[in-house]
Amino acid sequence: MSSYDRFTGTVAMVTGGGMGIGAAVARALAREGASVAIVDLDEDAAGSVAKEIAGTGGRAVAVVANVGNAGDAQKAVERTVGELGGVDFLVNNAGVVIYGEVPDITEAEWDTVVDTNLKGQFLMSKYAIPEMRRRGGGAIVNFSSVQALISQREVAAYAASKGGVVSLTKTLALDHAKDKIRVNCVLPGSVRTPMLWHAAELAPGDPEETIEQWGRIHPRGTVIEPEEIASVVLFLLSSDASAVTGAAYVADAGLSAQNAF
Ligand SMILES: NC(=O)c1ccc[n+]([C@@H]2O[C@H](COP(=O)([O-])OP(=O)(O)OC[C@H]3O[C@@H](n4cnc5c(N)ncnc54)[C@H](O)[C@@H]3O)[C@@H](O)[C@H]2O)c1
Repeated sequence: MSSYDRFTGTVAMVTGGGMGIGAAVARALAREGASVAIVDLDEDAAGSVAKEIAGTGGRAVAVVANVGNAGDAQKAVERTVGELGGVDFLVNNAGVVIYGEVPDITEAEWDTVVDTNLKGQFLMSKYAIPEMRRRGGGAIVNFSSVQALISQREVAAYAASKGGVVSLTKTLALDHAKDKIRVNCVLPGSVRTPMLWHAAELAPGDPEETIEQWGRIHPRGTVIEPEEIASVVLFLLSSDASAVTGAAYVADAGLSAQNAF
């Protein structure tokens, strides 16, 4: 049992909650008393996180949905309201990356990345915000990336989508302050998740060594653990962050602070 119980009696939706950062966020929210809808394309992954939470006395449902599809997003919100009673919090975490230079990536690949990472946040917010209004307020955390600020090669679609998330977050925060809904985004550096592992597998050499090498690019010498990002997300969702809205919250262990040397 956590020493905190900031989310007792609340309902949170976590997209991409089946693995990686989303699973860490879902577990942390459940530990602090929230009922959690784990919204994911991957039915087995969502189901296993929901089962794990239920096994430790928490409340969770697995909701299979593609966040980039309007019908799926609407149904995911409806199912959450039907099974858990409403929506207080939305964590727009689902994301994908496809690598390649612009002349080489296909239109379909561009659409997959932008539809998941950016349009998915629009659609989930579109259907979740009216439910938050009904409860008298709420909070949203959108997932951007340090790649919205500093870039690398072969991530045009991903970086463009993550830049869009920062802008989307600011306007959502302004539009819904009157509804008592705070909206922030988080910009992580490299986090040890299946997404990072997949990227490391594409690089030459041993993936574990590649991740260690990427860790050394961060000033503290290691990549970030998913639980460290979950702590930031819970802070931003909680009333501890009552003064924070419209923020692009960098959680990159100092990666983007360095530049000249
Ligand atoms: N891992 C990193 O280094 C890193 C760094 C910066 C930002 N981020 C961002 O953090 C978020 C989580 O990343 P992660 O590393 O945990 O990723 P991950 O690939 O490990 O997990 C992503 C989850 O999202 C789900 N998903 C993918 N497309 C979906 C869709 N269309 N609808 C519903 N679910 C979908 C996947 O099934 C998976 O469970 C992403 O938005 C990512 O861009 C990650």
